[in-house]
Amino acid sequence: MPGLTGPSDYSKEPPRHPSLKINSKEPFNAEPHRTALLSYITPVDFFYKRNHGPIPIVDDIESYRVSIGGLVKNPLEISISEIRKLPKYNVIATLQCAGNRRTEMSKTRKVRGVGWDVAAVGNAKWGGAKLADVLELVGISKNTSSSPLGGKHVEFISIDKCKEENGGPYKASIPLRQATNPEADVLLAYEMNGETLNRDHGYPLRVIVPGVIGARSVKWLDRISIIEEECQGFFMQKDYKMFPPSVNWDNIDWSSRKAQMDFPVQSAICSLEDVDFVKPGKVTVAGYAVAGGGRGIERVDISVDGGKTWIEAQRCQTGNIPYQSDDLNNDKWAWVLFKAVVDVPERTVIIAKAVDTASNVQPENVEVVWNLRGILNTSWHKVQVRRASQVAISNL
Ligand code: MTE
Repeated sequence: MPGLTGPSDYSKEPPRHPSLKINSKEPFNAEPHRTALLSYITPVDFFYKRNHGPIPIVDDIESYRVSIGGLVKNPLEISISEIRKLPKYNVIATLQCAGNRRTEMSKTRKVRGVGWDVAAVGNAKWGGAKLADVLELVGISKNTSSSPLGGKHVEFISIDKCKEENGGPYKASIPLRQATNPEADVLLAYEMNGETLNRDHGYPLRVIVPGVIGARSVKWLDRISIIEEECQGFFMQKDYKMFPPSVNWDNIDWSSRKAQMDFPVQSAICSLEDVDFVKPGKVTVAGYAVAGGGRGIERVDISVDGGKTWIEAQRCQTGNIPYQSDDLNNDKWAWVLFKAVVDVPERTVIIAKAVDTASNVQPENVEVVWNLRGILNTSWHKVQVRRASQVAISNL
């Protein structure tokens, strides 16, 4: 049985890039500096790492199997080499933790959870088999919302163990309709950016559910179960739900809200930080914008006067400089990068807000989306900058 590390054994963690900002050591949660997000594909080393327990070890890949069972006629155990024989797909998709930008939300009112700046998000090329193809092997046809034995959800159960599940495995589910839809591009991924998935990101096999909060993209897959009701695990029922600002820890009713799936439209400035001293002249305002559910980014607006006036940023998906407009929204699950070169006044707040292809817009204030778990902070992203004085310029 792989994954021998228990829920509190952190003695066998993999090496990580020293520049990552560690938000919690055990379990390991870390994000890169925001400037690492200015390239279209996020290098593996700089991709955020979000864990709920120790990283499991699968050292005997020959004996590793994923079992597929539950409400299926012909359950199966499948090896990595068998999964690799299925048609391979490369899907460029942005993975975003629902807690991205939580630190900023906690400044309004206290929230519970690991603090994150704007980099609990990354964009990678994931390589693997489509879940829809894998499910056909157990007799579930494409584009169906119910299996022959009445299953309506697909549960992913991992190898890692976490406290929230009382020492049991991390798990989550998605509707069968999504899992069996080839267009939804749900993958069982064994590659990230053309390389074998590493331990931190789910070696040997993980789920990638594009357009959906990262919590559903289960790493270190052990079992797939076809079930009638949604997964009853902690992270589906008692976490990762969006509550209104009026709900607090005394009056919370977890069953009153649905498990969060698609993420809303989001953007962040990554070329500047609060109180960056910028040289007189033009300033580059660049970052990422991303929408869940396969919606593209229609527009990114930039303001250099605190939101009184706006200009539209250039957008691109390939990272080409100068930005091309003809390569937009080709990768429907991926972020777009944006850039605007602007004059800034002496002391100002620069703002980015994105609009998706359904014309959903980021909300102006964090207060209106505040929630006790601090998820989905998609409020306008603001950075305060100052123009450097002549004295300071010599140090820039
Ligand atoms: N899968 C397992 N087995 N255990 C986990 O702790 N964390 C989830 C998800 N899948 C998690 C998991 C969360 S909350 C996120 S945001 C993503 O993995 C993060 O994936 P990454 O670490 O590859 O960036």
